[in-house]
Amino acid sequence: MEIRQVTADERTDTMFPLQAYAFMASPWADADRETYARRMVYYRTATSLIVEEGGQTLAGAAAFPMRQNVRGAVHDMAGIASVSTHPSARRRGFVRQLMTRLMGQMREQGCAVSALYPFRPSFYGKLGYVGVPRVRTATFAPEGLSHLLGAELPGEVERLPISDGFDEFHALTLRMLRERHGFSVYDETRTAEFRVSPSLWVAIARVDGEVVGAVTYRIDQYGGDLIADDLLTTGPLGRALLLQFFARHVDQVTRIVLTIGVDEVPELWGTDLAVLTQGQVRFPGKCGPMVRLLSIDALNGLHAGADLGVTVDVVDDELIAGRYRISGNAGTLAVEESKDEPQATLTCAGISALAYGVLDPVEVMTRGFGQVEAPAVEALNALFPKKMPYLFADF
Ligand SMILES: CC(C)(COP(=O)(O)OP(=O)(O)OC[C@H]1O[C@@H](n2cnc3c(N)ncnc32)[C@H](O)[C@@H]1OP(=O)(O)O)[C@@H](O)C(=O)NCCC(=O)NCCS
Repeated sequence: MEIRQVTADERTDTMFPLQAYAFMASPWADADRETYARRMVYYRTATSLIVEEGGQTLAGAAAFPMRQNVRGAVHDMAGIASVSTHPSARRRGFVRQLMTRLMGQMREQGCAVSALYPFRPSFYGKLGYVGVPRVRTATFAPEGLSHLLGAELPGEVERLPISDGFDEFHALTLRMLRERHGFSVYDETRTAEFRVSPSLWVAIARVDGEVVGAVTYRIDQYGGDLIADDLLTTGPLGRALLLQFFARHVDQVTRIVLTIGVDEVPELWGTDLAVLTQGQVRFPGKCGPMVRLLSIDALNGLHAGADLGVTVDVVDDELIAGRYRISGNAGTLAVEESKDEPQATLTCAGISALAYGVLDPVEVMTRGFGQVEAPAVEALNALFPKKMPYLFADF
């Protein structure tokens, strides 16, 4: 077997049949193939790898060049997608080999971190990835927000078709990339597809002309549901303006279903708000995303919780194994190779979990991602305070 990189145009003849079989209703129609081929213009900057044997494509995987905020530092990120193997070629190690090659190649291209949505987290756990939170939904009747109907808020909301509001929406996502831990965005090539994606409204909240919130949504029917994607806001005023806008649908829809991050607490949005907040994980189909460091240098420049240092051994990983001194200095992390005695031994998932703020050092140990000596538990906790990331991009 041979691993080969293919262009976006080659994907239709090589990767499409694998992906369509894995992820779509099948057998598929000719029109599905044509739609895929048309979309490939947005995949020109993706790195696509396939496994070939006897002229047949047996497996494929790809990475989108993306960017992500990790504790305040914006890194180039490899967004892994299009992972599939021909059913007769599964369990022969093809995807493991593709992923190893892809992660190394993306690191060479400058990606310090990587993220993906797994079909089963333990599969990617073996490749160094660790889980981060899945988005939740808040489901409520618009009546629950009636206190906002008459509220005088210093701003306004405009509703536009996504094609008209896309530039402002996109600009807000770029602002959130700079400001929000975990937030990730595609490059301009892939982003262009969302500008032309059909059948979505975008509500844009502004204060004195400045965008303070935006949410894309659709309404399924009169008396039905208003289904909204991620509630993106720069703060409480943006959120209040968008919720007020939704409240004004009280005589039009029965329910609002809104996608939110784990730091939102909808029961605090109103006194008489009856709300169901839920986050479901099931395999396959609805998993939380996973992340990992591709380079230990990703730790440089992150916000540090304290000014102190810890020496750690990172083990069992081709890309980031080694002994390092991780120090906080005036609120910023720095990492360098070290020969000191290590105070902790961490797998890639373990150090990634600390960097992304999803597990504390005790949880790292109880999850089987390493061993931390007692004094280093407190030090690592102080250096890497827990802080839940919000990934945003879906791929
Ligand atoms: C999931 C899928 C991509 C795996 O591809 P594959 O080529 O069979 O995977 P590999 O043979 O490289 O397996 C790598 C490791 O994962 C294990 N593994 C494979 N499938 C697994 C599964 N469903 N659950 C848990 N572990 C699994 C293998 O045993 C192997 O472990 P090892 O390295 O310790 O021996 C393939 O089954 C597929 O195409 N499924 C349908 C589409 C899909 O779900 N894609 C993933 C989207 S994120």
